Amino acid sequence: MTTTYTVRVEPLGAEVSCREDQTVLDACLREGVWLPHACTHGTCGTCKAIVLDGDIDLGSASPFALLDSEREEGCALLCVARPRGDLVVEGEVDIEDGVEVHPVRDHRGRVVTLEEVAPDVRRVVLDLTRPMPFNAGQYVQLVLPGGDTRPYSIANSPSDPRRIELHVRRHPGGAATDRWIFKDLAVGDEVALSGPYGTFSWRPARDKPVLLVGTGTGLAPLASILAQLGDTAAAAGWEHEVVLYHGVATKDELYDRERYERLQQELPWFSYRPAVSREPVNGRQGRVTDLLAKDFPRASGRVAYLCGSPRAVEDTMKVLMRARLFPRDILREGFFDSADRASGTHVVRSPLIRR
Ligand SMILES: Cc1cc2nc3c(=O)[nH]c(=O)nc-3n(C[C@H](O)[C@H](O)[C@H](O)COP(=O)(O)OP(=O)(O)OC[C@H]3O[C@@H](n4cnc5c(N)ncnc54)[C@H](O)[C@@H]3O)c2cc1C
Ligand code: FES
Repeated sequence: MTTTYTVRVEPLGAEVSCREDQTVLDACLREGVWLPHACTHGTCGTCKAIVLDGDIDLGSASPFALLDSEREEGCALLCVARPRGDLVVEGEVDIEDGVEVHPVRDHRGRVVTLEEVAPDVRRVVLDLTRPMPFNAGQYVQLVLPGGDTRPYSIANSPSDPRRIELHVRRHPGGAATDRWIFKDLAVGDEVALSGPYGTFSWRPARDKPVLLVGTGTGLAPLASILAQLGDTAAAAGWEHEVVLYHGVATKDELYDRERYERLQQELPWFSYRPAVSREPVNGRQGRVTDLLAKDFPRASGRVAYLCGSPRAVEDTMKVLMRARLFPRDILREGFFDSADRASGTHVVRSPLIRR
């Protein structure tokens, strides 16, 4: 029989039940108790918390994301840690105004679209058997045929919570992509998933001009944010400038280009700036970081949403900070994969841990 323990989350004082085989983060998110998290695979360090009382199994926390000294100080990565008795943990539980908490649930969906949108990039659209409310920018965990999971950002508007669109890039030798999504997965297949996850989401309370910067399939959550913004704008008269950069190496990787060029014609506040490093597009050529630095020598007063490979996100963040944008106005989603987990680069240093 599986034993269940009680986890108290401070400073909220909220109590949740957590099975011995369940991670503390999973138990909290399923009960609607929000805690910060990003990769949910023990790699990025975002979910770091202090264990005030009780025994915990630290699980597969990356030694780079949870240092030996932090383990000794009683810290844990709640996305991979499991209880060994009743627990009291302390995390950063602040939720920004306007951001809704949607409890995580298991779902099933049927593949209705499987489309090659760029070399090694597939659009996968799922129809869910029941709605999954989410915030624009959040992601789902797809369950692989062997039971392992991989996170993928949702690319469609939250206004249709029974539909989930994903943009997936193939990783050579990758378990989810090369050996399943790009090989065996077919229209009509049923897939299991859970969600919604993620701290990276549209912040309605930040009433400022917006920079959306995505590299590769990092476009996905930005597409969702833009779709939501389109709905909001139609309803409430949005007026701030929104600039979308899509960074890729070659022109044929600029998927959905026509859609954004059309939107640019239709929406007075929106502009689309492809950033192609190896060839010119519309008379411009360069890495997204270079074009962004050129266009915005001063970026203060804006809010930026960055998404893509952890390295690209980190480099873009540095450019924006040099342009005087405060880190609190730079929201980030790094697409950590197994290689990042093994190498331990791009770990987030939590302010909880004083050095
Ligand atoms: C929050 C979040 C959202 C994401 N959203 C998206 C998205 O919208 N679209 C998208 O395309 N991707 C997204 N990703 C990345 C995605 O989850 C997968 O990591 C990616 O698809 C690769 O999965 P895979 O199973 O195919 O590859 P894996 O089997 O995980 O392998 C990835 C790469 O690492 C190599 N590798 C495997 N194990 C090791 C090891 N031990 N040491 C060194 N190298 C190793 C493999 O050869 C391969 O090249 C997201 C990631 C996160 C964290
Ligand atoms: S969310 Fe736990 S380490 Fe990334």
